[in-house]
Amino acid sequence: MLSRLFRRSPVDTTMRIEPAGQMLKVNAKATLLQAALDQGVAFPHHCRAGGCGKCKCRLLSGKVREMTDKSYVLSAEELRRNFILACQSVPLTDVSVEVELAAGHGPRHALVHTSGEITAIEHLTDDIVHVQARLKDAAQYSAGQYAEICVPGVIVNGVRETRSYSFASAPGADPDHHRVSFFIRRVPGGAFTDWLFTEAKVGTVLEGHGPYGDFWLRDGLAPLLFIAGGSGLAPVLAVLEQALLDGVSRDVTLFFGARTQRDLYALDRIESLKARWKGAFAFEPVLSALDTDAGWTGRRGFIAEHLGAVLGERLAAHQAYLCGPPPMIDSCIRMLRDAGVGDEAIFFDKFLDRSHVLEA
Ligand code: FES
Repeated sequence: MLSRLFRRSPVDTTMRIEPAGQMLKVNAKATLLQAALDQGVAFPHHCRAGGCGKCKCRLLSGKVREMTDKSYVLSAEELRRNFILACQSVPLTDVSVEVELAAGHGPRHALVHTSGEITAIEHLTDDIVHVQARLKDAAQYSAGQYAEICVPGVIVNGVRETRSYSFASAPGADPDHHRVSFFIRRVPGGAFTDWLFTEAKVGTVLEGHGPYGDFWLRDGLAPLLFIAGGSGLAPVLAVLEQALLDGVSRDVTLFFGARTQRDLYALDRIESLKARWKGAFAFEPVLSALDTDAGWTGRRGFIAEHLGAVLGERLAAHQAYLCGPPPMIDSCIRMLRDAGVGDEAIFFDKFLDRSHVLEA
């Protein structure tokens, strides 16, 4: 049975979204972003943890309680103009906000809260596992989106604690929408991943809800540049495998950043994609923590250092998708902008903002 994450309470407030003129109810415990997503509104967002600034909106009237300091994310001008982060703001009164909704920019799927039984756990590296599950209820999502998985037994202020993980599976590979998978990196001391790596097994039931995020493939003819680090390969593989199913043939360059050869994984899936892709497909692994005598003849260092060398002047023409640790994303975005790639052609998902930091 599907159920909404948040239920109405006697202390609901309302949020009016301008210029769309939409009026929404907001549960007293819900953030503005959660309320919008819960009601199917395409409110822009990425990390949901106060780190990316994607959910910023202007508070036109009313009062909110802000859960984190937004001054690190918003500019002085935005602060002066009363911008807030919707993912970190719980309304204290009826509010009205101004934001450009993402409607029309991508697919919308109903938010579902369901459970799933683990069907396989495969160790990909020393600290990343591939968790496959079969959901009790069918769930529609777009390749590149993520789910919130409940931490077993952890409830804070009456709300289940969750961790965010991108689907590593292409939804089109399972027409009945019950089979999903995730790449999950162990965070030492993290409540969820410590439990997952020591206690979870095939047959264990997890609960969660989703889908969230807007890291899906955009239309266009531009060649595609994917940049993945660590477990950030999950949504990138999902997007590429779904694109293959959809007949996309745009040229692809995929950079995969890891520390050593032992941290590279899913190479068979990448090779399979490359073999079946209709356009050109270049794969560039980059290792950052190798000994000089490690026997690696490929690229060393950080991905940002190699973008120009691999793509040269062609870099500016790309549509770019980045997923992984924030420092990798930030350095690559700087390089992309310097090379002339416009912000409208750059899409990113800062993985650690919502899983690692929340987990720690
Ligand atoms: S800061 Fe709110 S979604 Fe990232």
